[in-house]
Amino acid sequence: MSCSKHTAVSPAIDQKVKEVEAKINLSDEQLNSIMLKLMDEMKKGLGKDTNAEAKVKMIPSFVKALPDGTERGSFLALDLGGTNFRVLLVKINEPDAKNSKPNIEMDSQIYKMPEDVITGSGTALFDHIASCMADFLRKLNLLDQKLPVGFTFSFPCKQEGLDHGTLITWTKGFTASGVVGQDIVKMLREAIDRRGEFQCDIVAVVNDTVGTLMSCAHTYPQCKVGLIVGTGSNACYMEKTSNIELLESDDGDMCINMEWGAFGDDGTLDEYRNEYDQHVDEHSLNRGKQLYEKMISGMYMGEIVRLVLCQLTKDGVIFGGLSHDSHLFTAGKFETSYVSQIESFAKVSSKKCDLNAVPGGMTAVQNILASLDIGAIRADCEVVIRVCEAVSKRAAHLCAAGVAAVARKIKANHPEKDDLSITVGVDGTVYKKHPTFSNLMNEKVKLLCKESGVNVDFALSYDGSGKGAALITAVAHRLQRQVVN
Ligand code: GLC
Repeated sequence: MSCSKHTAVSPAIDQKVKEVEAKINLSDEQLNSIMLKLMDEMKKGLGKDTNAEAKVKMIPSFVKALPDGTERGSFLALDLGGTNFRVLLVKINEPDAKNSKPNIEMDSQIYKMPEDVITGSGTALFDHIASCMADFLRKLNLLDQKLPVGFTFSFPCKQEGLDHGTLITWTKGFTASGVVGQDIVKMLREAIDRRGEFQCDIVAVVNDTVGTLMSCAHTYPQCKVGLIVGTGSNACYMEKTSNIELLESDDGDMCINMEWGAFGDDGTLDEYRNEYDQHVDEHSLNRGKQLYEKMISGMYMGEIVRLVLCQLTKDGVIFGGLSHDSHLFTAGKFETSYVSQIESFAKVSSKKCDLNAVPGGMTAVQNILASLDIGAIRADCEVVIRVCEAVSKRAAHLCAAGVAAVARKIKANHPEKDDLSITVGVDGTVYKKHPTFSNLMNEKVKLLCKESGVNVDFALSYDGSGKGAALITAVAHRLQRQVVN
């Protein structure tokens, strides 16, 4: 978006910034093609003969039944998917007299995952997890109980059942050795046995998208899709088992973990990727992989902005005379949280880029830039805002193309309904913290789904990775007991 007449940006600089914005922006026509391409990929992923070559793996999660409200008990939920590991105790109690919904009580602790653990050996990683679990159980005096566990493991895992998950590949900066190709439940059980301090019953491995969907479906029965836009990006949805050719059974629905981050890994998105996307990929730990995710998620958004700003600095458009020793020239220094903060300061004003209209807005942007050793005048700040807006808008629109593809697929599964309304349960820092991401995505989904007979709305999910995983574990535990009895 170009600035209003209040801008401090000269016409020459404006022209340069417009050129960059044009490289980043995706037109409605392009977004429509991306949506259609993802629908093709989904079909490939679901097909028995085509799954092997599909990049979007469409993994059956073995989560079929939604909670029916009769689940009770205490469960441990583990949540691993980023730089933090969380252990939660979730108690599902009898409903309050006034309220028919079960009453859920939670306690939890966050543990840091040190860089050397994330990138070290798999055995050390699972030993670390077991040690955090022991610490938590000790604090709550639960070391002597054998609790059912739901493990939210937010990486692509091939599942043969609810309690088996073979890691297909690491994503989001994890590289721990000796885990790819292994059953992570087995690795966790072995680490717990090595420790010998407590016992537990690992009932379910759950992707964070699936936990998100389940925790939302508990409140909104129309919820059929789970979406994460955080460090990584991914979605899951309820698919008819008869369409999942890799499964034998064809009764009812099953939740599919799409692993849509890998969309484009076969070159499908190359025509939409620019030099900044290529740079991000070439300097990542998983080169050539997760190309769609790299255009959308929080792990990469700040870095894309940084690369654009470096280019504009080198071209003499901004930050006149900035030394190349500045933090701006160091990979990873421009955090995605800065993008959210900078746009929040700019958003206060309806006249975009008119920083003078936002009390304290310019100083706030200048302070963020100062933390990177950058001295910025008003025109520089305006350009920075425009770059942030261009990059986050593209991310929101790409994500919208994904959601629209999923919504259309769900509609296609229900030809008997003229109008179908679905809710997408969403979680993730980008979605929750960025000031305009959710609106931009919402508007574009509406446009891309126009006249398709499906109406999409969004609901924030609260703690899908914790509560959702516990609910899945509770359902599985209930069903297990029914079989035993
Ligand atoms: C990455 C992971 C995926 C997860 C997503 C969001 O894309 O591969 O499993 O759901 O990040 O955390």
